[in-house]
Amino acid sequence: MVKSNGVGFLWGSATSAYQVEGGNIWSDWHFWEKQRGLEQCGQAVRHYEKFAEDFTLAKQLGQNAHRFSMEWARIETAPGQISQSEIEHYRQVIKTLKSLNLKICLTLHHFTLPQWLANQGGWENNQAIEYFKRYVQLVVKEFGSDIDLWVTINEPLVLATEGYLYGHWPPQIKSYRRMIKVVNNLAQAHQEAYKIIHEALPQARVGLAHNFFSLEPYRRWFILDEWATIRADNFWNKWLMKLTTGSHDFIGVNYYFHQRVLFSFNWSRGFVAFADPKKLNKEISSLGWEVYPSGLGEVLLTIWQRYHLPLYVTENGIDAQSEAQRASFITRSVAAVKQAQKQGAEVKGYFYWSLLDNFEWDKGYQPKFGLIEVDRKTFVRTPRESARVYAEICSDKI
Ligand code: FCB
Repeated sequence: MVKSNGVGFLWGSATSAYQVEGGNIWSDWHFWEKQRGLEQCGQAVRHYEKFAEDFTLAKQLGQNAHRFSMEWARIETAPGQISQSEIEHYRQVIKTLKSLNLKICLTLHHFTLPQWLANQGGWENNQAIEYFKRYVQLVVKEFGSDIDLWVTINEPLVLATEGYLYGHWPPQIKSYRRMIKVVNNLAQAHQEAYKIIHEALPQARVGLAHNFFSLEPYRRWFILDEWATIRADNFWNKWLMKLTTGSHDFIGVNYYFHQRVLFSFNWSRGFVAFADPKKLNKEISSLGWEVYPSGLGEVLLTIWQRYHLPLYVTENGIDAQSEAQRASFITRSVAAVKQAQKQGAEVKGYFYWSLLDNFEWDKGYQPKFGLIEVDRKTFVRTPRESARVYAEICSDKI
């Protein structure tokens, strides 16, 4: 794999606090699940206690980096009230990663909010930006110099659309106007965090993780499908990048979706609809998402050509139907990364989603994204066959 600026390529996997830690009774998701009678996250995969075992496995599996998130709700249990024991917990997490010589990619905010902030209107309230700044200042003060890569906010647009447009996630609002407000506030929060981190650590590398779509018109001959594809690209790929211009040292690319776009009206999606890959007889994952690894290469190249910034694949993964499918997905995705590099894109790392099976938000525990299988009763960890395939890729010192 091509190495840039003398810094080796980062090979890792990603997790997020709420999805793996367990026992999080302070976040908005916890309250929401209980209120709605949904499958509860509960113990998650007990990563909160087992992080050392998990990181050791990652290391044994050939990885040299790890992406994880801190849970704001744990750290700041009430406005301005900081839990020293949680700070101490994350200190141990970071120490363990360092002792294993794993590079650290830290996400400051991955979908969940402290419930006290959700009670105040969450990201719709401009005050959330001020609270976020204070939390970022704290993390920078406590851990700043230990972090190799900073991801301020994970997938702001996914958070905003799922929570405020489609109404699938808390706070389950369906309003175009309110979604736009949330996107603007998240973009501003990112920019403020970018400044705070750089003021304290001028050399820091700071970005966000954006969920980029690979898009193509469903009917290539139909001009309105072309037009709908341009609209989808503007909304899903370009809009957030425009709002946050000038505050990226790198771009974090989360890639899951290839969409075939067709022109058709729907109140929440405007004139854009996506064809169902199942009906088109395409390869799909267990969740029914189209498996299209070459789209990762296309996305990387497009983003490189648009922004000329270093790129990290901060997430790419599959809820696989079989281990053969997951292994093939990983191999093909890495080939797509290499292809994009060959064509000039400066790609500096790849984080598979996820190190472990975990709690997949509104879909609960059914989806299996992990390189490592976790028994839901005993919490025993077992690396899957695909983890070994990925390990071979990671240790390939090209
Ligand atoms: C991404 C999220 C991540 C996980 C994967 C499957 O959009 O960032 O937490 O849920 O999807």
